Amino acid sequence: MKAGLANSLSKTGLMIITTLLTGAATLTFANDTEMAASPATEETAPYTVACEETAGNTVCKVDKQTYIGWRTYHAVCHVCHAQDAVGSTFAPSLVERLSVIDEARFMDVVANGYSGQIGVMPGWKDNPNVNKKYNELYGYLKARADGALAPGRPKKLP
Ligand code: HEC
Repeated sequence: MKAGLANSLSKTGLMIITTLLTGAATLTFANDTEMAASPATEETAPYTVACEETAGNTVCKVDKQTYIGWRTYHAVCHVCHAQDAVGSTFAPSLVERLSVIDEARFMDVVANGYSGQIGVMPGWKDNPNVNKKYNELYGYLKARADGALAPGRPKKLP
């Protein structure tokens, strides 16, 4: 009886250790994939941005796709991630997150939602204002993350 209890206890212990190990492996994997994102090069950039300093102000002009991304972001995402994507107390800075996650992960979390240490984001795949604008959103946010696009309302390139 005693031995049986000890036996089943140690089995439980083993299960916990296995779970911990699996958890650790998953974490390591997540960190590995997080190394994937790097600033876009001129040829691959999902945005076109031209900024100008005038009287100490940076004014940027962007292509149509990036402009739509900016508009969509400030219609929907800014509620949690704040104006210019700088983050809030309850949602992370996307300027920072987009230097870490790659495009495939971006598309996945925006469509299907994401739950992490800060909180829960719903998925947007059923929202008609968002689900046709993933590329536009990515372009705008990547331009912010790469430091190519200053905060504030951009103008449209001709
Ligand atoms: C209701 C609040 C809310 C709204 C609106 C929202 N998000 Fe989020 N989002 C979150 C939270 C909370 C997290 C972080 C979860 C965590 O890390 O714990 C998050 C995380 C993210 C991440 C990072 C995922 C990762 O892998 O780290 C991306 C990218 C993102 N959101 C994009 C968007 C976009 C694009 C929109 C607009 C279409 C949007 N979010 C709208 C709350 C929101």
